[in-house]
Amino acid sequence: MADTIQQQLDAIEQDALAQVEQAGDAALLEAVRVRFLGKKGELTAILRGFGALSADERPAAGKRVNATKQRVHDAIARREASVAEAVRAARLSGHQLDVTLPSFGSPAGHIHPLAAMTREICDTLGALGFSIADGPEIEDDYHNFEALNIPPEHPARDMQDTFFIEDGLLLRTHTSPVQIRVMQEVQPPLMIIAPGAVYRIDDDNTHSPMFHQVEGLMVDEGINFAHLKYVLTTFLRETFGPDSPVRFRPSYFPFTEPSAEVDIGCVICGGKGRSETGNCRVCKGTGWLEILGAGMVDPAVFEHVGYDSERYSGFAFGVGVERIAMLKYGISDIRLFFANDQRFLEQF
Ligand code: PHE
Repeated sequence: MADTIQQQLDAIEQDALAQVEQAGDAALLEAVRVRFLGKKGELTAILRGFGALSADERPAAGKRVNATKQRVHDAIARREASVAEAVRAARLSGHQLDVTLPSFGSPAGHIHPLAAMTREICDTLGALGFSIADGPEIEDDYHNFEALNIPPEHPARDMQDTFFIEDGLLLRTHTSPVQIRVMQEVQPPLMIIAPGAVYRIDDDNTHSPMFHQVEGLMVDEGINFAHLKYVLTTFLRETFGPDSPVRFRPSYFPFTEPSAEVDIGCVICGGKGRSETGNCRVCKGTGWLEILGAGMVDPAVFEHVGYDSERYSGFAFGVGVERIAMLKYGISDIRLFFANDQRFLEQF
């Protein structure tokens, strides 16, 4: 009888080992395990045949069953390991990594278009002999208005334009207060430019509540309007091209007399004033674009800083950095400069 059990065991073991070899994944292996080693498995079922054995035969038969179970168990464990290894190998060969490839590196930042435009303006004017001066963005009424000959009732002080802070402090509405600060410090001759942020209550596609100007000031004996014209014409032709038309129009600023607004020929329609569909939208049909304000320093300003206006004369100008950049690069919305959209910034 013991022999019959041994034969059955051998047959089951052979069958089990063959099935283990054929099982190609973890789920199939688990099915094999349940079938042979589970509570209702074939090797468990064989114990039921023990009733036919004599008491002497049972311990030896039990050992054999256990030994067979152990071998099947071991075979499943080995197969599991090799199936897992095969899965891993397949995954690795699907995603081959060449660790010797050069890395992508981290993207390098670059200069903001307005900072680049400011540098370009300062480089051009620097080459003409101007050096850089600086002043605070939080200004007092005296430097921003009064010393620039803007009396208290002047419309430029209107709440609509100026961000007032408190106690006579405000955000500077232009870079012209730097003129006053420089003249309070040094005696002529002087040639300075002052780049920086300025603030006005204004917000649409050509106006931003914060924008940038470059101020210019030259003071010496014998400075006249021809010096102003030469410097600004040279600056504009360096910036917009040597053939760019430049025109000076009479204008008014409280701190310059006479004053001028300076135009360049429209860079969009080439000065014709028309596009294919009608009037040029950028110059509104005039063929000209206003680009900066300028003039001879008003003697009243010299009085405020203690310069002798009989001896000295000078000219001043103010350029809008965004305006120049927009015209030079054909940008129609000033807010693009401040939205920090990489797709915009990366074009410069
Ligand atoms: N400060 C003037 C403005 O912001 C520009 C200007 C500067 C005009 C210097 C004349 C002289 O509009």
